Amino acid sequence: MPSPLFSPYTLGGVQLPNRLVMAPMTRNRAGADGVPTDSMTTYYAQRAGAGLIVTEGTQPSAAGQGYPNTPGIHTAEQAVAWRRVTDAVHEQGGRIYLQLMHAGRISHPSLQPDGALPVAPSAVRPAGQVVTTEGLQDFVEPRALTTDEVEAVVQEFAAAATLAVDQGGFDGVEVHGANGYLPHQFLAEGTNQRTDRYGGSAENRARFLVEATTAVAEAVGAERVGVRLSPANSFNDIVEHETEDVYAAVVARLQPLELAYLHVVEGPPGVTEQIRAAWSGTVVVNPAFSLATTPDNLDALLADGRADLAAVGRAFLANPDLVARLEVGADLNAADENSFYGGTDTGYIDYPTLDQVA
Ligand SMILES: Cc1cc2nc3c(=O)[nH]c(=O)nc-3n(C[C@H](O)[C@H](O)[C@H](O)COP(=O)(O)O)c2cc1C
Repeated sequence: MPSPLFSPYTLGGVQLPNRLVMAPMTRNRAGADGVPTDSMTTYYAQRAGAGLIVTEGTQPSAAGQGYPNTPGIHTAEQAVAWRRVTDAVHEQGGRIYLQLMHAGRISHPSLQPDGALPVAPSAVRPAGQVVTTEGLQDFVEPRALTTDEVEAVVQEFAAAATLAVDQGGFDGVEVHGANGYLPHQFLAEGTNQRTDRYGGSAENRARFLVEATTAVAEAVGAERVGVRLSPANSFNDIVEHETEDVYAAVVARLQPLELAYLHVVEGPPGVTEQIRAAWSGTVVVNPAFSLATTPDNLDALLADGRADLAAVGRAFLANPDLVARLEVGADLNAADENSFYGGTDTGYIDYPTLDQVA
């Protein structure tokens, strides 16, 4: 049987040559003011063999920044620099979506405009420490957004998506609803103690993500919009036990929008299947840390209908020519964790291709 991994797929009207998605990965190599750099252009262009690239999490507003040197998509200068990235990827024959990531409480005053407190659904301090420009520091108690402010953040997502597609040249955007950042903070009961229409019932907790995605879809066209979810993933001190009702509400509300895709970071058995069963559109599954990146494993994921597209993170980080390597069953470069989050071009744009090691 021919491998489904290397068969084409039509996503939101765009033809993908294969079913492999480069998962979003924060690399902390942007310049001052969140402006993408030339190294970032090289990094993404090197990986244009992916069926689809999803960029690193990118803040839709200055207040959305959660880590040092992450890129933004809220100023003209950022959009112009992103355009160089998307042009280079397109020239190499690739396709690229921007991930819209508002970190919410997973931030620090030193990363915020005027040293303000990070914002969140409720004033619940995350356990642990945050990476700042001055090293690791304790998380602070965030400031709860007012209802009017929540509506303003929804509009920031739409404005950022417009900038990404119209000026930045992206094929689409992915709303980051996973991994404990702002939209996930609304979904999870541990971080959302609101008593307005954005808190309480499953329907209310789903509302922020649904409104932000709806506004983004209205701004750039639903066929250019994906959403990422990580049900029951406790990353970033997320506490959510009532995943069934909340994710059912999310999927039921997103379904009629006819989005390009839903992207699920595989969680405990059951939850991913529940979402898959309820969603009639394209599903991207990131088998997360549970599965080795081998052609057989990825083919199995696609062949048994669990996913239409497979997303892979670290293997793409370390193998710019991952698709070509999987196609011939070649060994993969190992990823160097020390250069994941920031630093120089070493461990960023110097991973060799097969040609270079031959
Ligand atoms: C260095 C690094 C940065 C990441 N940054 C993001 C991010 O910005 N947005 C996101 O949704 N996930 C992010 N993730 C999670 C990955 O998208 C992916 O879910 C995870 O690495 C598991 O997939 P893998 O086993 O194929 O690497 C990151 C992962 C790594 C290793």
